[in-house]
Amino acid sequence: MSKNVDLLVGSQWGDEGKGKVVDVLGSDVDVFVRYQGGANAGHTVVADGQKVVFKLLPSGMLYPGKLCILGNGLVIDPEQFLKETSELYSRGQDRARLAISPHAHVVMPYHKLLDKLQEEARGKTRKIGTTGRGIGPCYVDKYSRSGLRIEDLLDADLLRERLSYVLEEKNSLITKLYNHSPLPFDEIYEPAKNWGEALKPYVADVRALLRQAVDDGKHILLEGAQAALLDIDHGTYPYVTSSSTSAAGAFTGTGLAPRDLTRTIAVVKAYTTRVGEGPFPTEDFTEVGETLRKNGGEFGAVTGRPRRCGWLDMPALKYAMELNGADVIALTKLDVLTGMGNIKVCVAYEHNGERFDTWPTDMRMLSEITPLYETLPGWNEDISWCKNVEELPANAQAYIKYIEQNLKTPIGLIGVGQDRSQTIVKGM
Ligand code: IMP
Repeated sequence: MSKNVDLLVGSQWGDEGKGKVVDVLGSDVDVFVRYQGGANAGHTVVADGQKVVFKLLPSGMLYPGKLCILGNGLVIDPEQFLKETSELYSRGQDRARLAISPHAHVVMPYHKLLDKLQEEARGKTRKIGTTGRGIGPCYVDKYSRSGLRIEDLLDADLLRERLSYVLEEKNSLITKLYNHSPLPFDEIYEPAKNWGEALKPYVADVRALLRQAVDDGKHILLEGAQAALLDIDHGTYPYVTSSSTSAAGAFTGTGLAPRDLTRTIAVVKAYTTRVGEGPFPTEDFTEVGETLRKNGGEFGAVTGRPRRCGWLDMPALKYAMELNGADVIALTKLDVLTGMGNIKVCVAYEHNGERFDTWPTDMRMLSEITPLYETLPGWNEDISWCKNVEELPANAQAYIKYIEQNLKTPIGLIGVGQDRSQTIVKGM
């Protein structure tokens, strides 16, 4: 039986342009799956001049008639789910193609409140810079076994019983630790009961659906959110998100087995950005960073926050390639480097007079290291019309080769503009 399960993951600190890559590859995909995170993602798709930002739904939602799945590894904010689906359906999208795992966890209003209160309590020097979507507190409840799952919303009596116990625990935290007024039961219960009714038509055994799809040889695209350096285990802890954002999370988050996977596509932006707090060795505080932000439209799709910008970081990327077992790279936003003058690439770091070229294990070192750069010649020609690599200026071609050689991974797709059509597909 032929298998065709692609996994797409981010290789930096998120915002690599994964939404666009999913959209470009989507025409021959049968099933799109999100498997971790929640409405903290901001996957932007621009098709036929229309811009759509998906925070929770898979980016494949714009393809009519395909199956889109939200796996058990997600934390689902029902309000956001209903908002995104109603926006899509008001454009005439077909409701039958979306399925949610009953085992996905529900982001409740107290999770969002706790996210905010925790960040405030951490203060300026310790805050993580979260998206405020309740992601961390919801995953905490999952692992401490106090979470509510989608299936719990479907039975009003069970919901009442579980929520009354859980809310008591949360209110104790909210009032005693954070000095905030408690959340009234009815204000949480009533909307949650209604969410259950609204979500019921979508709930399905998505693990079994996926198993069947694999066995039928369907093309499945597992769509990672965030990226390797934000991974709860392997990222720049504690400045990370609360899920497994690297390849391994795709299996726990769906119930698929590692042997089902055919190929891993690592999305790499042609420069680096980060939103929120935490170390970022190649962050550029000069006008280079400013120009990248302006030309790349580097403002958070979820929070609107300006993203921190800098050059490519090879040791960080090598680390991400290893973690994800990348087979092929999708290089995005190459057009943003047009007219930037010389392009710098960090190839190693210096710490206490010592040079090293691997991503450090000691996260504290990251804020003390000095990046060491190589300089490559840039280009000024507009590349947004290019349809194949040979049409790119020689220096842009050299930049692509340089990345391929350093990361020992072929580049199969190159983004040269925002639109779906502004993409060079070189060997995917
Ligand atoms: P949380 O996921 O809201 O808890 O935020 C934790 C960290 O991950 C913060 O630094 C966020 O800015 C970052 N983060 C979460 N989701 C994304 C994303 O989709 N793109 C980029 N950064 C993200």
